This record gives sequence, structure tokens and C-alpha cells, in this order.
Amino acid sequence: MITGKYPNLRMRRSRKNSWSRRLVQENSLSYNDLILPIFLTDGSNQKIPIKSMPNIYRYSIDRLSKIIDKSIKKKIPMVALFPQTKIKLKNPLGSEALNENNLVCKAIRYIKKRYKNEIGIMCDVALDPYTSHGHDGLLKNSKIVNDETINVLVKQSLLQASMGCDVIAPSDMMDGRIGKIRKELDKNKFEDVQIISYAVKYASSFYGPFRDAVGSKGALRGDKKTYQMDFKNTNEALREVSIDIKEGADMVMVKPGLPYLDIIKNVKEHFKIPVLAYQVSGEYSLIANGIKQGIIDDNVIYETLMAFKRAGSNAIISYFADQINLDF
Ligand code: PBG
Repeated sequence: MITGKYPNLRMRRSRKNSWSRRLVQENSLSYNDLILPIFLTDGSNQKIPIKSMPNIYRYSIDRLSKIIDKSIKKKIPMVALFPQTKIKLKNPLGSEALNENNLVCKAIRYIKKRYKNEIGIMCDVALDPYTSHGHDGLLKNSKIVNDETINVLVKQSLLQASMGCDVIAPSDMMDGRIGKIRKELDKNKFEDVQIISYAVKYASSFYGPFRDAVGSKGALRGDKKTYQMDFKNTNEALREVSIDIKEGADMVMVKPGLPYLDIIKNVKEHFKIPVLAYQVSGEYSLIANGIKQGIIDDNVIYETLMAFKRAGSNAIISYFADQINLDF
């Protein structure tokens, strides 16, 4: 790399004025880069605060229109739906996942009917909101069984696709599920339904508030380390991504976000595929509570989202998506 030398070169010259800083800026952020997660709850006229996540609510379906209207107005391309399933509907097999009248299915139908293709819908494929043990897969003799879980995930994917879901997002970390889901989607004429693979999902404590929000926290027995990744590893992440690309993933995700920017950059540099980052619930709560208590100012939201762009993310799933003001 060739560069000049002080005093001929003064880096501060280009930083002196706002117009000049804008001229040399290397990255930008717009609403097009953001995906908004939405928590769903039963009942009518419900907008229930989530204690560990300031400004985030669980919505009953009849209260969704306001937040979706706002997202469409801002041109947020997609929302991601997450259900809080009633405890009495949970069982070891997570069978509520396959109920065509479960919360997610009802929400997909509602949004598609009202908004057509004005906004994309992405749905998690995993069993944790539905299982009484809180795991993403089926539990047999204290083991999460891979292939039997995939059979259920395929059914869950087909159900969501048949409801009108645009993007299937397996977040379960079972081996081989992307290929099986792709194959079955195609067989059932859902070849246009996209797959975003949570390809690189670390076993992380940053998911804590999310598990609160969907009500799987108290339920979770043990941890998810036999299927989610070990945060000591990088090469393993690249292998996961290459497998999922071969199996048919349209985009891949890295999760959590900010502590894993190195992984995002690595994946992007190796594979040149759309990479999404998930600024997860724990990251959100730390920042939101820091702002609330006056420890940091709210520019950190923009700063963290820009960090994802700098690292190479195409888009970021963030609970800040509809709160941040990018109209300047
Ligand atoms: C479920 C799922 C989780 C998140 C997204 N999908 C939690 C988990 O794996 O335990 C976490 C999202 C967040 O923390 O915001 N498979």
C-alpha cells in the first residue's frame, strides 16, 4: 500500500467538514439493510412489553398492522416472526409447530392477505418455541436426534411456505437440513421460496432475552452446545457455510453479531454470498439499557449497525430496525 507522509499528508484535511467526510465515507446504511424481528402472542388487542428488552413488545395479530405499516413506510424489506407459544401447547415433540393455526401461520396469512408482497416474511425453522424442553430438536435419551428432527423441520418448512412465507430460515443447526428442506420445497412447487440458513450459529449467552421473549428460557433443559457452535472456532464456521451453500442456501447468517464481526468478514471474503448478521437480543438489551440509563448515547445504535456493514454484511436483523432514524 502506498501512502503519503506528514507534513505533506494531513489525514485531518478530509475530516474537516461534514461534506468532505461524506465524500470519503466508505460505507453507508439504509433501511434496505435492516430486517425487523417481531414477537407474536395470543389473544386480541395485546401489546405486551418484554421486561429484559426495553421498547420491544409481543403483539397479538390484530395489533400487527401498525408496526408493519411503519416498516413498509420506512422501506424495511422484511420482518422475521417469532411466536410466544402458550405453555399448555408445548410438548416434547413440539407438535404445535405443525399446527396450521399456530401463531406464526396465522400471522403469515394475516400479513400476506393485507400487504401482499409489499414486505417479505421470514420465519424461523426450529422447534424451540414449541418444545416443553426448550430445545430446537427432538430429544431422545438426553440426545438431540438429528435426522428425526429434520423430518419435522421439513414439515414445518412446507407448512410455513404453504401459508405464504417468503423466506424459510432454519435456525436449528441440525446437519443436512438445508438440503432436505430445499428438496422437499421444490418437490412441492415452492421452488421460489428462499432459504436463509442460520449457518453459523454459536452457542451463546447473548440469546438470553430472546428466550425470555418467546418463553423458552425457563423451559430449557441443559444447553445447546451439541448443535450450536463453539465460539472458539473460525474454520468450523467456514465449513458450515460451504456445506449450506452446496445444499442450496440462498443467503447465510452469522449469529450473534457484534462479537463475531471477524466471522462475518471471513465468510464474506471466502464465499461472496449474501451474508446476514443478527444483532441478537442480548446485544440489543445491553445497548438499549445502556442508553436508557444514560451510560451511552443512542448514536451507538448507528455505530454498531455500521460496524456490520463494514464487516461485509448485506443486511442486519436488528430489534432497532424500526427505532433508528436514518432519514438524515
Ligand atoms: C431459536 C432462535 C434463537 C434465536 C433466534 N432463533 C435462540 C436460541 O437458539 O436459543 C436468538 C435470537 C436473539 O437472541 O435475538 N432457534
